Amino acid sequence: SSVSKGSYPTFMLKEIDEQPAVMRRIAQEYFDEERQVTVDQDLLTALSAADRLYFVAAGTSYHASLVGKRLFEKYTEIPVEVGVASEFGYHWPLLSKRPFFVFLSQSGETADSRQVLVEAKRRHLPVLVITNSANSTLAREADYTLLLHAGPEIAVASTKAYTAQIAVEAVLAKALGEKLAIQTAVDFDLLGQLGLAANGMETLVAEKDTWSELAHDYLQTANDAFYIGRGVDYDVSLEAALKLKEISYMHTEGFAAGELKHGTIALIEPGVPVIAFITEQATAAHTRGNVQEVVARGAKVLVIANQDCQDAADQIILPTLTTELMPLLTGVCGQLLAYYATLQRGLNVDQPRNLAKSVTVE
Ligand code: G6P
Repeated sequence: SSVSKGSYPTFMLKEIDEQPAVMRRIAQEYFDEERQVTVDQDLLTALSAADRLYFVAAGTSYHASLVGKRLFEKYTEIPVEVGVASEFGYHWPLLSKRPFFVFLSQSGETADSRQVLVEAKRRHLPVLVITNSANSTLAREADYTLLLHAGPEIAVASTKAYTAQIAVEAVLAKALGEKLAIQTAVDFDLLGQLGLAANGMETLVAEKDTWSELAHDYLQTANDAFYIGRGVDYDVSLEAALKLKEISYMHTEGFAAGELKHGTIALIEPGVPVIAFITEQATAAHTRGNVQEVVARGAKVLVIANQDCQDAADQIILPTLTTELMPLLTGVCGQLLAYYATLQRGLNVDQPRNLAKSVTVE
C-alpha cells in the first residue's frame, strides 16, 4: 500500500489518533458556512418516501448500524431494522411497503453485503451505501453514496471507520429529520456535538499511558473478558468486545447488562475483568446494580462513565455527548484497551491471524 505509518509503530495506533481530525473533516464536508447540514437533496427526497429503513452490514459496520438505528429513530421517526448481511442474504424479512436499504461498508467490497445489495436492486428497491471508498463495488452499484471521509484504513481492526460511520449516520439523520420537520432534528446541534467529540477524542488519545496501564492492570493475565452496558452502551460493548477478541485473541463478549442475571452471570469468576460503559442517565442506576452483582462474585470491574453518570470510584470519566453519540468516545476507549492488551501480549496488532481487511467471499 502507498499509505505510510509515518512515525507510528502501527497503522492501528495511527488510525486511532486520526479520529479527532476525521470528526472535524466530516463537520467540514457536511456543513456549510451557515452551519446548515447539507446532504444531496435527491437522496433526502428518496429517503423521505420510505416507511422503514433496512440497515445491512458486517462486522464493525454492523455495530455502527446498531447505533444508526437509534439515531434515525430518534431524529427522523422512521422505523429501522438492522441486519447482519450474511444472515439477511439468506433469510429476507418480510419487508414494509416502502423499504429503503442502507449499506454500511468501510471497504465497499464485502461480499456478504453485496449479495443483499444485488437482490435489493433486482427488486427495484432504493439503495444507499455509506462507505470510505468512492470507487468501490458497492458505491458503483448503489443509487446513492455517502462518503466517510476517514482516509484509508489499513489495520485489519476497524477504528476510525466506526466513529466516522456513526458521525455520518448522525449527519444523515439530522438532514432527513429536518426535511421531515421533526423538531428534535431541528434542535440537534450536531456541529457542536462533533466538535465536542473531536475534543474528547483528543484527550483520550493523549492519555496513552493511562490506557496502557489499564490494559495491563485489567487484561494482561486474563483469558476471558466481558463488556457490559445498556442501550447504546450495549451497542458499543459489542464493538469493544469484537475489537479486543479479534486482535488479542482473548475470549471476549459484549452483554446487555440486564441480561447477565438471565444466564451469563454464571460465567463470572474471581478475577474476571468486566468493563462497564455507563453513559445514559436513564439506565445508569440499573447498570451500577449489575456492576455490584459481578463485584460480589469477584469480578475486576473497570467503569467507563460520562460526567452525567459519574461516581467517585469510576476509573474513566468522559465528557457527556448526546446519548446516541457517546460511542464516539466509548468506542475509542475500547480501541485503546484492545490495542494495548494486544501489544502487551506481543502480538501483531495490524495483522491478526485468520482475518482479512475486506472479505470478498460469502
Ligand atoms: C472484515 C473486517 C472487519 C470489517 C468487516 C466489514 O471482516 O476484518 O474489520 O468490519 O469486514 O467490512 P466493511 O468493509 O464492509 O465495513
